[in-house]
Amino acid sequence: MFKIVKKRFLNDAKTICLFEIEAPLVAKHAQAGQFVIFRLDEQGERTPVSVAGWDREKGTVTVMVQNAGHSTAMLHTVEEGDYITDFVGPLGKATEMEGLKKVAVVGGGVGCAIAYPIAKEMHERGIEVDMIAGFRSKDFVILEDEMKAASTNLIMGTDDGSYARKAFTTELLKEQLEAGVKYDRVIAIGPGLMMKFLAEVTRPYGIPTIVSLNPIMVDGTGMCGCCRVMVGGETKFACVDGPDFDAHQVDFDLLIKRGAFYNDFEQEANKHICKMTGGTRSNG
Ligand code: FES
Repeated sequence: MFKIVKKRFLNDAKTICLFEIEAPLVAKHAQAGQFVIFRLDEQGERTPVSVAGWDREKGTVTVMVQNAGHSTAMLHTVEEGDYITDFVGPLGKATEMEGLKKVAVVGGGVGCAIAYPIAKEMHERGIEVDMIAGFRSKDFVILEDEMKAASTNLIMGTDDGSYARKAFTTELLKEQLEAGVKYDRVIAIGPGLMMKFLAEVTRPYGIPTIVSLNPIMVDGTGMCGCCRVMVGGETKFACVDGPDFDAHQVDFDLLIKRGAFYNDFEQEANKHICKMTGGTRSNG
């Protein structure tokens, strides 16, 4: 059993929640870019979530979870001092950072929760980091102070202009490139469509571009095949071959189609949670 030692909602919309969880073995080995799989109880589904931070001395791991489906909605109802049944990891490969001097780390929405620890690790290693963060609106902004501290420049935008610039992350990155800023690498994490279009922004410039993929996962060990993605015409398993992949090689259309596969089921499951919680849940 794994104890929740801290719980904090990160945005006004209360769609993204930070959990610090007692898991000494995971904390000992975790690196930026990796993920864990949690299960609330014996009957719970296995849900992957990226590692957002760790404290090796305290033996705790931080995750930031968007209320995006049945299991994540249930996790949002868990309180400090409660326990969850499984917290397995770290899984997947850590983000490669060797030899980098200047990078753009791009996060879209909850993707910033994954992008932030990568930016932080790079910044601490002395890599110059331009952090580009995009959100739907002011109510959905997360980690602004943390991202500012973890980067050389923080460039922010919202889709509706209710906070920072009214701009998508694709526009913000394009402006940097058109202004002549040179990056060794662009790392993008967010919705499939955002990553797809960001890959097209960097392609003409020939900038190596990495995306962190988070498809549906079950076992997280390369056995079930649920997390398969097409990269460069080959089938890869995000849980063991990734989650980082070359953005210019990923078949995003297939990724997005597979990601939507369980939407009807999730909506049905969430109706039951809304009944249980008095209909207060937001879909973020
Ligand atoms: S989650 Fe089963 S193969 Fe990756």
